[in-house]
Amino acid sequence: VSSLRPALDGVMVNGFDLRAGAGSLSTADADLLRRRRASLGDLYPLFYDHPIHVVRGSGARLFDADGREYLDAYNNVQAVGHSNPRVAEAVHRQLTTMNTHTRYLQDGVVDFSERFLATFPDHLDHVVYGNSGSESNDLAVRIAQWRTGHQGVIVTRNAYHGTTALLAGLSPENGSRMPLQPFVRLVDPPDAYRDGPEAAQLFAARVQAAMWDLTRYGHGTAALMLDSIMSTDGIFTGPVGLLDPAFRLVRAAGGLVIADEVQPGMGRTGEHLWGFQRHTDQVDLVTCGKPLAGGLPMGALALSAELSDAFAAEHRYFNTFGGNPAAVAAANAVLDEIDERGLIRHAKTIGTELGSRISLLTADDDTVGDVRGAGLFIGVEIVTDRESRTPDGARAHRIVNDLRALGVLISAVGPHGQVLKIRPPLVFDQVDADLFMSAFAAVLGSLGEV
Ligand SMILES: Cc1ncc(COP(=O)(O)O)c(C=O)c1O
Repeated sequence: VSSLRPALDGVMVNGFDLRAGAGSLSTADADLLRRRRASLGDLYPLFYDHPIHVVRGSGARLFDADGREYLDAYNNVQAVGHSNPRVAEAVHRQLTTMNTHTRYLQDGVVDFSERFLATFPDHLDHVVYGNSGSESNDLAVRIAQWRTGHQGVIVTRNAYHGTTALLAGLSPENGSRMPLQPFVRLVDPPDAYRDGPEAAQLFAARVQAAMWDLTRYGHGTAALMLDSIMSTDGIFTGPVGLLDPAFRLVRAAGGLVIADEVQPGMGRTGEHLWGFQRHTDQVDLVTCGKPLAGGLPMGALALSAELSDAFAAEHRYFNTFGGNPAAVAAANAVLDEIDERGLIRHAKTIGTELGSRISLLTADDDTVGDVRGAGLFIGVEIVTDRESRTPDGARAHRIVNDLRALGVLISAVGPHGQVLKIRPPLVFDQVDADLFMSAFAAVLGSLGEV
């Protein structure tokens, strides 16, 4: 079963080929796969050449239906650990007390919002809740277009920003057969591996050119929308300050900067709660989702009071589930976990150490071009050789699936699926790191002999 397809064909990197049959799955899993296809169809991808039937999780571990244990070095939603007892207890307590929408006065959402907003730069002092990263991004783009009176949105060349009609058209990662908005412009990400020390300035120049082009075609620039770790583009983490020149340029020209924190947010990058803070505070709208509520659907959009109030004067926003007490209780428990267990500092310490160990292990491996990371978000770029730096998605795919065979879960990103994406729950500890390293060494060792 080969699930490797170039991302540009519109097939998810590291996606199981649903049309290829059950492969070596057990009879029970093959039956579940058949029933899944019969009801869900082929729209929802599955990971890995041999999909995993998960039934239980704890901390940074997942367990399959046969009781096999996997080290989860990939899950972001469960940043404070699978089946986190504190989150579960908070949700249970809230659901057995009261859970309504936000059109009543409620303590929980206000208490949480005050706490949450204290984590942002001072100028971002209002928050709007939804149920996903997509809802937050969709609203952010609408607000930017309304505020500027322009349509144009700049995104990176292999960006993914969400699933609404608006955002699908701003998400080139979906593949070359999916239509993009006429008012989107794609820019190459700031790739310090190939662009070198000029990466920040080169990126700003590309953004400038995109703004000119948007003006030329009558769209103008509403926003630069950027995942501040550029995960689907291949994970571009540094150097610190990388995004500042481009963000300043957009704001000086009257456009808004939307920092999409769905991937790097909630402490993952190891110094602040938000990924953009490694680079700058020159942002207008910050969106987040995934890890926010420990697995419950929740999205948030932070913005200035001035922008929020002006938008509110002309629009109405109601969101049945957005900011509901159970989700808010979960999000509050997630912040408790991050604070009390010191998970931001932990992400930095263990992530830096893990990155160093990977660099050391692969120092003489000509197919490992670059190891980059911020906190517990690590990208390992696989190339045919260090001289040409040609992306080698096939080899990355093999590594991902060989690790899976050894019980270690990661994935791959980048336009060729060439960058190993190592992004474990923030509770990933020393024992987990040791386990990861021995499996990684074994996989690279066996590939080396091929
Ligand atoms: C960078 C980024 N933005 C937005 C989204 C959309 O979030 P959601 O799936 O919660 O709608 C994703 C989801 O993977 C994402 O990675």
